[in-house]
Amino acid sequence: MEYLSVSPESLRKAAGIIRNGGIVAFPTETVYGLGADACNAEALAKVFEAKRRPSFDPLIIHIADIKTLEDIADLSLLSEKNREKLFLLAENFWPGPLSLVMPKSKKIPGIATAGLSTAAIRFPDHQAALSLISLSGGALAAPSANPFGSLSPTRAEHVRDKLGEKVDMILDGGSARIGVESTVLDITGGCIKILRPGGTPKEAVENLIGPIQDGSAAAGDTASGGLVSPGRLKSHYAPKTPLSVFTLEELIRQPCGPGSAFVFFDAPSRDAWAATQPPAALEKAVIRVLSPSGRLVEAAASLFQTLHELDSPEISRILAQLAPQEGLGQAINDRLRRAEWGMGSRE
Ligand code: TXA
Ligand code: MG
Repeated sequence: MEYLSVSPESLRKAAGIIRNGGIVAFPTETVYGLGADACNAEALAKVFEAKRRPSFDPLIIHIADIKTLEDIADLSLLSEKNREKLFLLAENFWPGPLSLVMPKSKKIPGIATAGLSTAAIRFPDHQAALSLISLSGGALAAPSANPFGSLSPTRAEHVRDKLGEKVDMILDGGSARIGVESTVLDITGGCIKILRPGGTPKEAVENLIGPIQDGSAAAGDTASGGLVSPGRLKSHYAPKTPLSVFTLEELIRQPCGPGSAFVFFDAPSRDAWAATQPPAALEKAVIRVLSPSGRLVEAAASLFQTLHELDSPEISRILAQLAPQEGLGQAINDRLRRAEWGMGSRE
């Protein structure tokens, strides 16, 4: 495995690897992706293998030019109304953290989309990612570059620590700016559905195209009536350390044992909690704040990095505060709830 900083040379080298059927981890504005040529079934199989990803979970196809859509999607299968919405969404949110599920063309092999006739397509807002996509042939299938079900990577080091020799190259482009994955929208049906909350807030989408339906229930949830988004398992993004999520009021009632780590949304919450704790408890606890001033953008950007840091042998339990359920807070809370497991969790 080669580990290189982003540069014109390393990008060319990475593209060479991809054109030859290899797999490369690369930075995007959301999280690091593990890229392979979207039209090369064998290369795609390597991505599933490296991640130990079940074959029922489709990949996102990344493009660097809107014209590529005609190649990899079959827009004639969309209703005229939905085609209009697609172009409106693309004009306003691409490049950016939004993936759109639409009918795929024959160029995309079934393994990329787990046998579905649709593909999730995204145009990332990251210069190195765009260069790599263009140099590699125009369409890169890339899931997040982490073992299936574990914390998402927001730094190249996270990929190196968790996937290491399973990938051919890691391109280091520093910390991911947004820090949570793209929002996934299904635009194939009569009603536009949000399958995964993410870096593009639901409110922003609704301001543009009107109300959208919530289709983000986990696969296997009986309430959802079936498998909406195949990769949306109830447990996902999980650290090895048990994690539970709470409101501030609930957190205040939790015992603070040795090895407990607390993750607060903002500084006022931390202070309100600290005021209720005996001094001895405060000395023992590891305390992190996602955004001291309570900015959702900052909290999203530091979420996975904070969880990676706390996922260490010295910590026996992570107790995390939910963010306000608005804007990017919906993506933060979605990731926290799916990361929840073990002691005192609500599973
Ligand atoms: O920000 C992101 O989206 C990152 C970066 C690397 O671009 N990628 C990412 O990929 O998060 P991944 O594979 O970890 O998540 C893809 C999600 C899964 O929940 C999957 O089920 C859903 O998108 N998805 C992909 N294709 C789909 C399809 N045809 N229909 C419904 N859901 C789909
Ligand atoms: Mg993922």
